[in-house]
Amino acid sequence: MSKFFINGGNRLKGSVKVSTSKNATLPILAASILTDGEVIIKNLPNFSDIDVMLNILTSIGCKAVREDNSVIINSSSIHSYELPEELTNKVRASIFFLGPILSKLKGAKMSYPGGCNIGNRPIDLHLNGLRKLGAKIVEQHGYMYCDGKDMKGATIDLNFPSVGATENLMMASVLTPGTTTINNCAKEPEIVDVANFINSMGGKIKGAGSATIVVKGVKKLTGTTYTPIPDRIITGTYLIAGAMNGGKIELTGAKPEHILSLINKLENSACKVTIKSDKIVLASEGIYNSIPNIDTQVYPGFPTDLQSPIMAMQTVGRGVSVITENLFESRFKHVPELVRMGATIIVKEKQAVVIGEEVLYGAEVKATDLRAGASLVLAGLKAKGYTTVNDIYHIDRGYENLELNLQKLGADIKRI
Ligand code: EPZ
Repeated sequence: MSKFFINGGNRLKGSVKVSTSKNATLPILAASILTDGEVIIKNLPNFSDIDVMLNILTSIGCKAVREDNSVIINSSSIHSYELPEELTNKVRASIFFLGPILSKLKGAKMSYPGGCNIGNRPIDLHLNGLRKLGAKIVEQHGYMYCDGKDMKGATIDLNFPSVGATENLMMASVLTPGTTTINNCAKEPEIVDVANFINSMGGKIKGAGSATIVVKGVKKLTGTTYTPIPDRIITGTYLIAGAMNGGKIELTGAKPEHILSLINKLENSACKVTIKSDKIVLASEGIYNSIPNIDTQVYPGFPTDLQSPIMAMQTVGRGVSVITENLFESRFKHVPELVRMGATIIVKEKQAVVIGEEVLYGAEVKATDLRAGASLVLAGLKAKGYTTVNDIYHIDRGYENLELNLQKLGADIKRI
């Protein structure tokens, strides 16, 4: 099992290009089955979750051929609506296939995707919405048997602005006859990107990015060539690395407007951030006051996916930071690992109180999910001495060439 070996203490300097968004690309890959035309997705990022989604596509008869940094998908040869359990269990994002397959093939069979380390990840909002559209779903022995023959447009009121449910129900409505209105939608930029992708194939989706999305069902879609948005969580992770370690870093190919909630917090804690169209430059002394309050919220609030990375930063801030995780019920698994490195963090239910220390010390730690893993890398870059981060397959699910990019910025990190 590969691991990262880090010798902390280097300031960071240089420029890194931000990868394409994992959380936009995953649902877009699922949505590509809605058309029989050829779909070309450019700048495909190299995350392990993407590979699994491509394998699921080919397992049900779609063609998916990587070419340079694009993938060409053709779903006209799709021959099954049964998703293979050994693949769907590997990624949570497999649930995104349910809506499109039901909408296109009027049937689906898939296993109940498992939970993961940040919570049990229920899909009740997805299933209730699909039933509102007229899908008949029987859940038996861990499988979902779905019949979509009588699906037609409906009004769906989400009782929580779930990102995945918003995307899944939007995709399920695209080829469903009639008009579907989804209320209390999530507003994440990735949802807008999925809607833009579908509309580029002739879909009729309005309101993505707002609380109400209206989808007019169409009979057929065309093919398209599409480049998904950059990854705002990867952008944020590098910005936090720069803020913690001092120096001056530049991120290119970014969308700063997608990560303003973080940028505002970093500017208030002694970083200078300059934004120029798709470039972000961050300069920091690497010494900063703690950010007193960090509450994770749905977009445009502070993203839950940056909770563990910014907690790593607070462990050596001057003062105290109270971090509240409002989105997932067990997303503090990085805390004991940070404590092993000398951090002082007290957790009570969904709050973590981080009392800033002078230094962190290198230690042997392990990643428990992709963002927790990223936070341990950030802590290792700052710590005195050597840090080994184990189980970095979690990190490879959502960060492309992390160690190579950090080396480019002057960090002493290697994959062993
Ligand atoms: C998406 O997960 C992201 N994943 C997550 O990123 C991200 O943390 C999350 O949105 C919140 O922003 C992808 O886009 C692939 P939710 P998703 O449905 O859609 C509860 C990463 O690190 N809920 O908005 O699963 C749920 O339990 C990953 O890249 C239900 O109760 O998030 C959670 O408490 C981690 N019932 C809350 O809603 C449901 O049917 C938010 O979940 C669905 C969700």
